[in-house]
Amino acid sequence: MKKGAKIAVIGVGAVGSTTAYTLLLRERASELVLIDYNHAKAVGDALDMNHGMPFLGRAKVWAGTYEDCRDADIIVITAGAAQKPGETRIDLLKRNVGIFESIMEEVLKVNDHAILLIASNPVDVMSYFSQKKSGWPVHRVIGSGTLLDSARFRYLIGSELDIDPRSIHAHIIGEHGDSEVPVWSLANVAGTEVSLSDEAKERVFANTRDAAYQIIEAKGATYYAIALAIDRICAAIVRNEGAVLNVSTLLNDYHGISDVYMGVPCVVDRSGVRSVLPLHITEEEKALLHKSADKLKDIIRSISL
Ligand code: NAI
Ligand code: LAC
Repeated sequence: MKKGAKIAVIGVGAVGSTTAYTLLLRERASELVLIDYNHAKAVGDALDMNHGMPFLGRAKVWAGTYEDCRDADIIVITAGAAQKPGETRIDLLKRNVGIFESIMEEVLKVNDHAILLIASNPVDVMSYFSQKKSGWPVHRVIGSGTLLDSARFRYLIGSELDIDPRSIHAHIIGEHGDSEVPVWSLANVAGTEVSLSDEAKERVFANTRDAAYQIIEAKGATYYAIALAIDRICAAIVRNEGAVLNVSTLLNDYHGISDVYMGVPCVVDRSGVRSVLPLHITEEEKALLHKSADKLKDIIRSISL
């Protein structure tokens, strides 16, 4: 990767503009291009961020067109319809597949080497769709997956134990959605099993799985934690970290599951997803993961690729 990454953010609504601002604060890119169907919004965001430059490190931020994706190292896609109160992520499918058709057509005209980082929902299906549509190697088409869910899970466990969530090791895997799977069997603090009552475990997982509904009901959308999650993935790519992150990737005989994008622990570096880590989960957790995969496969079958 050349000196300073170039990152394009397509869709600068609540998630995309918060992501762009987070990338700027964290000095993740030397060039940040904002693209949106509503170009005025991108222009306004770029102006507003540039006025903060005297308080930040040097970066070039501008409202651009797809032509500006030409030499982007990472293309983040946060465009699309978002859930309204009462809607599930799956309810967004048809609208966002249509939007992605148009976006992918434009991106493929100008770039064949970037890493695609998808957040738009239903993110596992949108990632699968993007990989099939682009024909790009799987390692370069990544969904934000259950990285956000795992962060929520770790925060809520940390709150129960009064321990810094950064010291809590716990995974949510599977669909970024209602069928996601809490891997309690491997949840630990310094290698010691997380000791919570069954009631506390049920409460923690319910609040993890349903967090988005709660937040959307309260303020209309979620965007801070997902922006930080997207930034975390970009950092692992830009810094060639080899960080283990629960992003969404195409599974190939993962506990017997293939040909579906789901969130699992992946080693992320400048190549994108370098490898997938097999978790030693229980038979019960494996059964839940298969249910999650079956749900996503049914949805994938409903879209024409
Ligand atoms: P939003 O409505 O605030 O922003 C969407 C943006 O996309 C708008 O600015 C709109 O103009 C733009 N857009 C629409 N069609 C476009 C096109 N064809 N080309 C370029 N831009 C286009 O929505 P919000 O809240 O930012 O959510 C965006 C997506 O992110 C939703 O699908 C939402 O469900 C998803 N999301 C995913 C999360 C995850 O964990 N993966 C977490 C939070 C949101
Ligand atoms: C979330 C939804 C919006 O988890 O995907 O925040």
